[in-house]
Parts: sequence; C-alpha cells; structure tokens
Amino acid sequence: MKYLGKKAVVTGGTHGMGRATVEMLVENGVDVVLTGRTAERAEGLKAHAVASDATDLGDIARLRSEVAHRFQDIDLLFVNVGFSTLTPFDQASEADYDRTFDVNTKGAFFTAQHLAPLVKEGGSIVFTTSVATVLGSPGLSVYAGAKAAVRAFARGLAAELAPRNVRVNVVSPGFIDTPSMGVSGVPREVLEQFKEEGDRITPLKRHGTMDEVASAVLFLAFEATFTTGAELAVDGGLGQGVSA
Ligand SMILES: NC(=O)c1ccc[n+]([C@@H]2O[C@H](COP(=O)([O-])OP(=O)(O)OC[C@H]3O[C@@H](n4cnc5c(N)ncnc54)[C@H](OP(=O)(O)O)[C@@H]3O)[C@@H](O)[C@H]2O)c1
Repeated sequence: MKYLGKKAVVTGGTHGMGRATVEMLVENGVDVVLTGRTAERAEGLKAHAVASDATDLGDIARLRSEVAHRFQDIDLLFVNVGFSTLTPFDQASEADYDRTFDVNTKGAFFTAQHLAPLVKEGGSIVFTTSVATVLGSPGLSVYAGAKAAVRAFARGLAAELAPRNVRVNVVSPGFIDTPSMGVSGVPREVLEQFKEEGDRITPLKRHGTMDEVASAVLFLAFEATFTTGAELAVDGGLGQGVSA
C-alpha cells in the first residue's frame, strides 16, 4: 500500500497495459477511475469504471465532471488510449488516417486539456506513446505520426503546467505482450508474426510485459519528482540505438 490515499484516472484501463496499470495502482492503495468505451470490460477490477469514448468531447467533459465529483482532485492522469493498424502508407484511406489521429492524438489532447485542471500540485500526467515514433516500421506510418504528435504535446504541456508543479511525461513502449499487441483488425497469425518479428529485432530478444510498462508509469507518476517533459522507453532497447 505504498501510495495509499492517492487518486488516479487511467484512460483505456479496461484492457492491456492500461488494465495492468490499474491493477498495480490498486494493489498499491490508489483509488482509480478508469475508462474504456464499454465499462463492462472493467469487470473484476477494484476501480470505478466510466464508459467514455476518447474521440467524443462530450464524453470527455462528462468524465471530467464525474472525476471532479468523485475525487475533487487527482494525483495522476494516465492518458493511455490508443490503437494501431498494420496498413501500408499507400493503402491508408482518409478514414483510416482520421480514425488513427482521432483516437491516438485528438483524444489524448482533449483528455489532457479537460482533466489537467483536476491534477493537484505535485501531481502528474503520463501519456502512452510508442517506439514507432522513433523507429520507421512498415504499416505503422500513420500511427507513428499520431503518437509523435502526442510526444510533442507532452513537452508543451510540461511547459504550461510547470508553474503549477504538475509534471508531464511519456511512457514509450516497444513490443509489449498485451492481448492485442496494440494492433487492431489483423488475424491472429499476423499478430503472431508481428510479435515474433518484435522479439527478433529487440536487443533484449523478447517482448515486454504489461507489468513492466505499469511499473514505469508508477515511477513517472510518483517517484520521478524532478522529471518533466521526458520520455521513458520500455522497449528492450529497440528505439534506443542499441544493436540487436
Ligand atoms: N501493446 C503494444 O505492444 C504497444 C506498443 C506501443 C504502444 N502501445 C500503446 O499502448 C497503449 C495501450 O496498448 P494496449 O496494447 O494495452 O491496447 P489494448 O489492449 O488494445 O487496450 C486499449 C484500451 O483502450 C481502450 N480504448 C480503445 N479505443 C478507445 C476509445 N476510442 N475510447 C476509449 N477507450 C478506448 C480499450 O477499451 P475498449 O475497447 O473497451 O474501448 C482498452 O481499454 C495504446 O496507446 C497503444 O497504442 C502498445
């Protein structure tokens, strides 16, 4: 119960690394509000689930009201919602592009804009980006651009929120063994190949675990008290210029 009494909001907390982070926060005594498009997926978690679509500004405003009502203020906002597809750039439609930026970029920006006022002095915001922002990979160009924008937002927000002593940082995962591997709409065998390729090109020769990402989020949130505008890679060296 290391962080007993702290309060957090985790978007995209029903599944994958967001869910693992919720579990780790709860185990450490943190009260959590989490989101996903469907609250039912949060079953089994000892946290309050709010159905909230990250692309819907009305939902984001309602989330803010619900969090303000329940918690008044928060210590951590983890802006984690995101997805990629594996679409070669010459096949990406306007709809693919818009959806990728709506969920990963616009959703992240407006979630932070609406909830940042609730983050208390000494608290922090953490965004999830991706190794794709620094590693050109086939099929991930639009996603890489969408997440690179989030990396840039984090620096701007860090500057604007520093006077309130609110830190803003980024966790940047490589290949992480979530059930979706962060990829939507591909058959199971393509996902398996994607994962195997990840293990091959990652210097540490494996994929990361969801708990390894969750630990990094808790570190940025509560321990890294002189760190803002920074990116913590959890990628086994993949995006760090380390040869495989
Ligand atoms: N897994 C990886 O290898 C990897 C690598 C690099 C970066 N990432 C990034 O890490 C983050 C989490 O990835 P993950 O693999 O843990 O994903 P995941 O298992 O697919 O979980 C995504 C979470 O976001 C929620 N979500 C998706 N779209 C939403 C929307 N429009 N509004 C609200 N909630 C939404 C999902 O819940 P619902 O479906 O119920 O809405 C779920 O809780 C993402 O930002 C991803 O891009 C993942």
